[in-house]
Amino acid sequence: MVEDLVISSTGLTKSYGPHVALDALDIEIKSGATGLLGPNGAGKSTFIKTILGLIQITSGDGHVLGLDIRTQGDQIRQRSGYMPEYDALNPNMEAIHQVRYSGELLGMNPTVALNRAHQALEYVGLGEQRYRQVSTFSTGMKQATKLACALIHDPELIIADEPSNGLDAHARNFMLNTLQTTVDSGQRSVLMASHLMEDVERVCSDIVLLHKGKLAAQGRIEDLKAIDKEIEVHVWGHASNMEAELKGSGMDVRREGRVMRIKHRGDESYSDILLAASKAGSQVRRMHDHEASLEDLFLVIMERLGHEVKSSDDLLKGVL
Ligand SMILES: Nc1ncnc2c1ncn2[C@@H]1O[C@H](COP(=O)(O)OP(=O)(O)O)[C@@H](O)[C@H]1O
Ligand SMILES: [Mg+2]
Repeated sequence: MVEDLVISSTGLTKSYGPHVALDALDIEIKSGATGLLGPNGAGKSTFIKTILGLIQITSGDGHVLGLDIRTQGDQIRQRSGYMPEYDALNPNMEAIHQVRYSGELLGMNPTVALNRAHQALEYVGLGEQRYRQVSTFSTGMKQATKLACALIHDPELIIADEPSNGLDAHARNFMLNTLQTTVDSGQRSVLMASHLMEDVERVCSDIVLLHKGKLAAQGRIEDLKAIDKEIEVHVWGHASNMEAELKGSGMDVRREGRVMRIKHRGDESYSDILLAASKAGSQVRRMHDHEASLEDLFLVIMERLGHEVKSSDDLLKGVL
């Protein structure tokens, strides 16, 4: 196993009766922040539960922090913090005792757990509200309490399932910043499941994209975006000649007036463009890389998978 892999799996399969929820997943997740993306029903929550050893897999293998997901679930959960998708809090408990209790469940001594609960609640922005009952909390405060429960034992890996679900802009911002700080300053790893590309792009450098239980893409967002990189060129004079020159030399060009987008095919693309301009008698006034957004990338990946997706909204509504 590669040294810095935090989570890995080979042929990981989980069936619910005849329904294959995870289909032979070969996944490699490095330390740092990784987004687990995919429309509803893609298998994100199931994947998380399997790697935490909370549900039995049907076949395949998986490791988290070097531990076997089939036999060492207890140890995996000791060393990672899990923020589940759904409300897992006791409404009748005060936040401080809810968080302390989750530490005790992990085997922490009650005094240490209480001390840590104070720190964890402070960290997630609930220092002032720690003695309030969870039932009086907003969704944002409940999500923050869940994060504090996940952080109580200062785990090296935090697995958060839809952490910004149901949050207003302010609470969402705070949640995403807290996760980001945990990675950047805290040197912890985060796996964050979300159906919102924007959230993932803010916190994560890497993604794993699931689609109907299958792995659709994984790796650094930056590298994946290169799949769809274009060069934008602004020209002056003879734009249609230049377009013809570019197409004549086999380049993929889209032109709108004096602005062209040319598919990036390696470093030689830049000199090919300048050569075409010089042949056409056009002046190149501006030339820069145009990177796809994560949303564009989604569409390209889905297109390659042979699905007709009109927009990321369609994708996220689970139209597939
Ligand atoms: N306990 C279960 N029993 C049967 N099917 C399930 C169960 N949990 C999830 N599924 C199915 O597995 C698929 C993946 O679900 P899930 O992991 O919750 O997806 P996501 O978190 O990406 O929305 C869905 O088709 C869902 O209906
Ligand atoms: Mg889910």
